[in-house]
Order: sequence, then structure tokens, then C-alpha cells
Amino acid sequence: MGVVKISENIYSVGVKHPNLRVFDLLMPLPHGTTYNSYLITGEKNVLIDTVKLQFTDELVANIKTIIDPAKIDYIVIQHNELDHSGALPNILKAAPNAKVVIAKAAENFLVNSFNLKFDYIKVDDATEIKIGPNQTLKFVMAPFLHWPDTMFTYYVEEKALFTCDAFGAHYSQDSGVFKDEIQKSEYDNYFEQFSIYFAIIMRVYSEKVLAAVKKIENLEINLIGPSHGPIVRHDVKQHIEYYREFALKPVENKELKKVTIVYSSMYGSTMKMAYHLESLLKNQGIQTYVAEIPFAMSAEYMTNVIKEIASSDGVLFGASTVCSTILKPMWDFLFFLATVQLKGKSAGVFGSYGWDAQGLKLLEQTLTNYKMNVMKTNFKLKFVPSQDKLESCDEFIKEFTGMLDPKASSETKAAM
Ligand code: FEO
Repeated sequence: MGVVKISENIYSVGVKHPNLRVFDLLMPLPHGTTYNSYLITGEKNVLIDTVKLQFTDELVANIKTIIDPAKIDYIVIQHNELDHSGALPNILKAAPNAKVVIAKAAENFLVNSFNLKFDYIKVDDATEIKIGPNQTLKFVMAPFLHWPDTMFTYYVEEKALFTCDAFGAHYSQDSGVFKDEIQKSEYDNYFEQFSIYFAIIMRVYSEKVLAAVKKIENLEINLIGPSHGPIVRHDVKQHIEYYREFALKPVENKELKKVTIVYSSMYGSTMKMAYHLESLLKNQGIQTYVAEIPFAMSAEYMTNVIKEIASSDGVLFGASTVCSTILKPMWDFLFFLATVQLKGKSAGVFGSYGWDAQGLKLLEQTLTNYKMNVMKTNFKLKFVPSQDKLESCDEFIKEFTGMLDPKASSETKAAM
């Protein structure tokens, strides 16, 4: 994206990747992404984050328009995910005297990612690094936004906060780097990607997001520099407030249970089971969302379904058994669910079958691997469901709703 001077001493030196359509083979990207990297110049020169390995040359070329990369004194790695740290070994070759600055939690990750020897210093909330007479860097530990080693970097005198993946979006704007440079007609697309990013990457850590927002609420911030997407220089407080609002929703609505039902159905039998289960859940006042997983699924559709699952307390997975396995679309979908923190969510499986229901066992195994609380029983029906057969799911749904609300379940048992 070329170099953009942000202030007297801060430069955007990262790169755009507008044509990327799937992130790490996991997340659909309708508007591409950017790998933001920032150079702060002073008596000491600091690079905040690098870029994905394949863009190393572009990053180095960008830095060279400002300083000789050999003059970089510090490279801050705000978390060790390779879309931001992948170029680090090569940047260290260009900047052999640089010390790598990391959170304590990153040490293990970094050493094992690169298998290299290099100088690094570990920082925490109390660390200050002077990079000039009136230039100070501080650090805000923000664990699990979204990695254990995530931290923010605060350039005190410029009131600039660099926030790793937080407050960012997979959105590569056509021109410029600032949020206020996004064309008006494009703003809704940007905001959708901003909220989807939160939903898929951050929502599961909502409590941690609230803790991080609280930590920075008394900082004076004129600029937010995230690691993906537009840089924010206006209405900064509002931008932070979006995260508080997004994170508060599930906390405030803890009493309202939500279940997503996804299914792939060969001849419509599993689909009938899905809608029967939905009607039973609705009758119990549970919020529901049902989605077919079709053979061809657009990125937008899949993102929406994943978003619904991320905000659900439980998920029911339906799949017809075919040749002792489940249909390909459901396998593909299960793969994409690796982007979602499913640990602790309740899960149940259902589906129609012909001569064995082996596919349901495979589903159960995969969901157990994802650390979901998988029901001990499943709901399977031979060939085509009749009304009587559908009604045989009473025990299944009772066990599932009991898992969603263990308190109510134990109260019911106590009353019996
Ligand atoms: Fe954009 Fe967590 O890396």
C-alpha cells in the first residue's frame, strides 16, 4: 500500500492484500485484508509488527524509503501469529542489531516458531522504553485478544495506540489507509467486516475484551493503529465503544439461550428432523437459528452461519449418513468451524440413515475434538421420518436443553 506518513514520527509501512479471499484457509474475506506495520522514528527506530512472509520484500522496500532497515533498534511483535510475525526472520537479517520486544507469554511461541537465536526483551504493563528525549513506548497486556501473548503498544507523546488484531477488520480499502478515507458507499461493507471480525475472532473472549477496554479507557488516544484494516484517527472513543457494545451483548443476555441448528440433507429427511427440533426448542422459549449447509456455500453465507454459531449456547448438527460417512458439505463446514471457539458449547447430532448411522459417530467424534460438550445420545431415524418417528426425539431434546441450562435441569430433577 506504499508508505503513509501518519504523524511527525509514525509511518504506515504495511501491505495490502486485496485479492485474498480466504484467510489462512479458514475465514472468507470478501474485501481482502491488510497486514499493517508501523515504523516509529527517533533516536531509536521501532518497527511495530511485520507482515506475512510473502510480503517481506514490500515491507523492506517501504522501510527503505524512510530509513536504512539496519537502523531499526526494536521490533515489537504484538502477538506471534504469522500474518504479522512471518517476516520477522528476514527483517532481522536486514536489521541485525534490532531487539525483538514481546510479551512474556510470547517467548515460548516465538522461539518455537522460528527456531532461531535472536535478542529479545520481555515487557509487561510496567515497562517503558525511551526511544528519544520526548518519545516513550508503554505496553498494555491484552491477553486473549485473541492470543495469550497479545499486547498493545502505546506511544505516549503521540497518544497513539497500536492494538494488534483488536479494533481491526479484514478490509482492504481501495485508497488511503484511514477509516475516514473509506468511500461513503463502502462504509457499510467495512463496518460489516469490522463486526464479523469481532464475532469470529474476539467474541469468545468477550470478558477479556471488556477487561482490555477498561484498561485503556483512561488513556488519551488520538489514533488507533490495528494490525488489519483501516487506521482510526477520528471518533476514536466511539470506535473503542463498539467493542464494549459487541462484548457486552452476550454477557447481558446470558439468561437468553440460543441454539443454532445446521444440517445437510440428501433427500429432505434430515431437514424435516431439523425443523421439528427447532419447533420444540422454540416452544421452550429458546432462540433458534436454522441453516442448511449446501454443496456450494458463498463466503458471506458461511460467515453469517459461523457468526450465529459463535453467539449460540448450543449447536445441533444434522447430517444424512451416506456410505458410512456424512455428506461432503458438512465435512467442509466442520473444517471451517476450526475458526470458532466451540469449547464448552453444548452439541447434539441427528440425521436420517439407511442401514447404519455411522456418520453420526464421525460427527460426534469431530465435535468432541473441538471440545464441545457432546450429548451422549443422538437422534437418528431410519429413512423417512413419520410424525411418530419425529416425536421419538423427546428424550434427546430434554437432554439437550438440560445441558443448555444445567441449573433448571437439576431443579427439575429435584422436584421429581
Ligand atoms: Fe492477524 Fe492474530 O493475526
